[in-house]
Amino acid sequence: MKVTIRKLRISDAADLRECINDKEIVRRLDDEDIKYPFTLADAKKYIKKSLKDKDSHEFAVLCDGEFAGTVVLENPAVGKKTYELGYVVCKKHQGKGVASKAVKLMIDYGFKKMKINKIWAGVLSNNPASMKVLEKCGFRPEGRLKKHTYKNNRYYDDVIYGLIRR
Ligand SMILES: CC(C)(COP(=O)(O)OP(=O)(O)OC[C@H]1O[C@@H](n2cnc3c(N)ncnc32)[C@H](O)[C@@H]1OP(=O)(O)O)[C@@H](O)C(=O)NCCC(=O)NCCS
Repeated sequence: MKVTIRKLRISDAADLRECINDKEIVRRLDDEDIKYPFTLADAKKYIKKSLKDKDSHEFAVLCDGEFAGTVVLENPAVGKKTYELGYVVCKKHQGKGVASKAVKLMIDYGFKKMKINKIWAGVLSNNPASMKVLEKCGFRPEGRLKKHTYKNNRYYDDVIYGLIRR
């Protein structure tokens, strides 16, 4: 299985819609723009917003050439040397190491191409698989924001992970 990343395009909208329009995926994401159901119009709006945002570096994840998710570096901290990481792997492609490979490719892009110094991610406390992905990619826990996110009619802690360039 070969995992690659390339810039997200508007023509990815149908694949993105199919990927995100899944209750299990939506309930783990920390993004106000993503709700269930996730329509084709929502997917187009999401991609257009991402392409317009000069501080968003968003990629499609491909698994043997097939759309398998997205990975992004966005929301830079002051000075733009630290970016927030986000990712999704579609149901069909989960459990095969795709997220871990895509995150490693994104780390490489961030540190080598963008020349940034730090990447961080906030994971909802209901998402052990995502924490595992980050740990496998070298991230370390940096703290816990208590009852930080309100979603699905309840509060979740956000677990913060960071990776500093060596
Ligand atoms: C989290 C997500 C990206 C993982 O994608 P994936 O391609 O299946 O991830 P990988 O296969 O690379 O690794 C997942 C790891 O978590 C482990 N895992 C899976 N479910 C788990 C669970 N319930 N508890 C603990 N570990 C779990 C897997 O065993 C694997 O570890 P291993 O390689 O040591 O066996 C995917 O499930 C997803 O997109 N979820 C919804 C969106 C999301 O959560 N995005 C991240 C927001 S921070």
